[in-house]
Amino acid sequence: GKGTYPFYMLKEIDEQPTVMRKLISTYADENGAMKVDAEIVKAVQEADRIYIIAAGTSYNAGFGAKIMLEALTNTPVELGVASEWGYGMPLLSKKPFFIFLSQSGETADSRQVLVKVNELGLPSLTVTNVPGSTLSREATYTMLIGAGPEIAVASTKAYTGQIATLAFLAKAVGEADGKEEAKEFELVKELSLVAQSIEATLSEKEKIAQIVKENLLTTRNAFYIGRKQDYFVAMEASLKLKEISYVQCEGFAAGELKHGTISLIEKDTPVLALISNNPEVAAHTRGNVMETVARGSSAIVIVEQGQEREGDDIIVNAVHPYLSAISMVIPTQLIAYETSMQRGLDVDKPRNLAKAVTVE
Ligand code: M6R
Repeated sequence: GKGTYPFYMLKEIDEQPTVMRKLISTYADENGAMKVDAEIVKAVQEADRIYIIAAGTSYNAGFGAKIMLEALTNTPVELGVASEWGYGMPLLSKKPFFIFLSQSGETADSRQVLVKVNELGLPSLTVTNVPGSTLSREATYTMLIGAGPEIAVASTKAYTGQIATLAFLAKAVGEADGKEEAKEFELVKELSLVAQSIEATLSEKEKIAQIVKENLLTTRNAFYIGRKQDYFVAMEASLKLKEISYVQCEGFAAGELKHGTISLIEKDTPVLALISNNPEVAAHTRGNVMETVARGSSAIVIVEQGQEREGDDIIVNAVHPYLSAISMVIPTQLIAYETSMQRGLDVDKPRNLAKAVTVE
């Protein structure tokens, strides 16, 4: 049950530090060595390209892991929207490896791609929260997120759990390949820091509620902007806000605004900027924020420690750059939650939606 929580979503947001620590004990031993199925590691090592297929938040989680996966495995990662790939595969590489990301393991759009992958006799891995689910049974391999049941329609702990699970896979593959970068990436330590960073953000709920009250209570639209990894988080942040608060929100690559979308900025349009601890990217995103402020936007800056400036709204404790999608998404989950709550909506059961989408 949800205990003393008003909604499952808030309970599930709060569970994320525990999910991170549980993943450490599932996929690493007491010395910090990876405990990832050797067959899965070998199958990824043999691939010349990783295809991640998913829908919605799971699709966004694939992006959240992409930079890290490519850096540690030295293998290009391509993302596919399941509902599009169901019509037919694009030209595949010579040795593809498919990863299906799915909280429920029951998403029909993803399954129709897996059916094709199996017809082609290609290897696949399902990363899911539900043992024995359809996608788990039908893929070659499974890695479990072990986040515990996710009841709220809006997915939170599955997103962060999926990225963390893929981190273990990425490091295990990189180490097996003898890559220095993978050996030096102290995942157990770094993920513990992520858990602490999440806890620090969770203690800012009142502040976040206030920001929502001042900026998002009546608006019809909003923007999340960011660059690189922050752009990927912006995609997820905007999906979450749309899904449960019905505020129309775009997640945009900060540098693309000036190529058209900036014409939508009006007086008081909320622009939420995500700025992680990457000096070059941070400076550019700040420039883009100023461009919107000059057109009347009300800017909300969510910044990772190391790049903070006077007047920034939410400061997120710094983590390893590979894992910043996990820590940077937390304030955006709380923003979505608060916006829905303060508007008096049913946070856990937004209109028109089901938890698992089992139709194509
Ligand atoms: O169970 P899955 O991860 O396959 O579900 C995919 C999407 O339907 C799901 O992430 C959806 O976008 C969420 N409701 C978003 O919060």
